[in-house]
Amino acid sequence: MDVNPFRYSGPVGGRDLIGRDGETEQLQRTAEEGNNSRLVAPRRYGKTSLLRRLTDEVRTDGWEAVYVDFFGVVTLADVAQRIDRAYSRDLSGPVARWYDGLRRTLSGMTVGAGPVSAGVTLAAGTQALQDRLDLPRRVHGKHGRRVLVVFDEFQGVLTAQSDADALIRAEIQHHADVASYVFAGSHVGMMRELFGDRRRAFYAQARELALPPLSDDATAAFLTERFARTGRDVGTALAPLLETCAGHPQRTILLAHALWEQTSQGESADEASFADGLAGTLTELLSEFQGMWSGLPSGQRRVLVQVAENTAGLYAVGTAGRGGSVGTALAALADRGEVMVDASARTGHRVVDPLLALWLREGRPQAWPDR
Ligand SMILES: Nc1ncnc2c1ncn2[C@@H]1O[C@H](COP(=O)(O)OP(=O)(O)OP(=O)(O)O)[C@@H](O)[C@H]1O
Ligand SMILES: [Mg+2]
Repeated sequence: MDVNPFRYSGPVGGRDLIGRDGETEQLQRTAEEGNNSRLVAPRRYGKTSLLRRLTDEVRTDGWEAVYVDFFGVVTLADVAQRIDRAYSRDLSGPVARWYDGLRRTLSGMTVGAGPVSAGVTLAAGTQALQDRLDLPRRVHGKHGRRVLVVFDEFQGVLTAQSDADALIRAEIQHHADVASYVFAGSHVGMMRELFGDRRRAFYAQARELALPPLSDDATAAFLTERFARTGRDVGTALAPLLETCAGHPQRTILLAHALWEQTSQGESADEASFADGLAGTLTELLSEFQGMWSGLPSGQRRVLVQVAENTAGLYAVGTAGRGGSVGTALAALADRGEVMVDASARTGHRVVDPLLALWLREGRPQAWPDR
């Protein structure tokens, strides 16, 4: 069957991953030293995909690797449960069988039926979490294997409890010989607060790794090969696709998917088919863009448009009214992962999502014109 070779939703791994060799190596080396890393990048920049590759790699080196996702947790018991599930799913062979038996002996995450005071629930959640955070020590003590623990969407623990990071650090800080940790998160501002604020438990506790845009060379080679493998030629559509996506991983794959749909087997894509694919994709994204836009205060809207247009410096006369408010709006947009630093831009920043930038530059249309 003729199947589109581009997966644009959910984490990808193995041969679907473009580049990221250097990043994988750095994370692995840091873990081997017994040090911790933090991976910070905006939404859909390929964090989870990279972490998946990392866990595969360390397993081949004889480590256990456990991937925990804290997205959406609301209580400490949730946090404990996510860790428990990850150990149940990710440990290998004999270690997995051992954990299956052990988990029955760990303190429970829910208190039995009947009315329970909030205090009891909280204490039970804390104890359940402490037991699970201690697991690398037990894995190592019993099986002699080190554990790579990945905490994805780590900022989520703050929703469970505002000082959950302190509780976690207290448990894991003596693990250097038995475990290494990678903390990842897509809320750039909250991650910065967790690791960059002196008052927080994880201040300066993990080496930062930022995820850059994908390189054009690696992307070009990947797209060319995927088109060729499925009996197509990416042709003259390649250049505008690379230029439009500016290395944004998910947007690159999303547009490649749309372009492939426009290209019949045995044919070559070109600038016209790229334009059709782009128009169709933007139409599908309109409601996402409009929703995001209507949630922004007006000061941030003005700054976002200026960053997208990139025609003058942000502090040029007349920009968004008052200078101070420009800085505040910019910081808020950066915290939410809508803009990122780009030294080559006039504004010193770029809109993270290149398709959103396009929509902003086109004057925020309510519909995308048919071609
Ligand atoms: N290195 C890469 N090579 C190819 N495609 C990639 C790469 N990184 C990300 N992608 C594309 O981006 C999509 C999203 O990737 P992923 O889920 O790993 O990002 P994320 O940063 O974890 O996103 P979120 O913030 O939503 O959790 C993938 O489905 C894939 O299409
Ligand atoms: Mg992710």
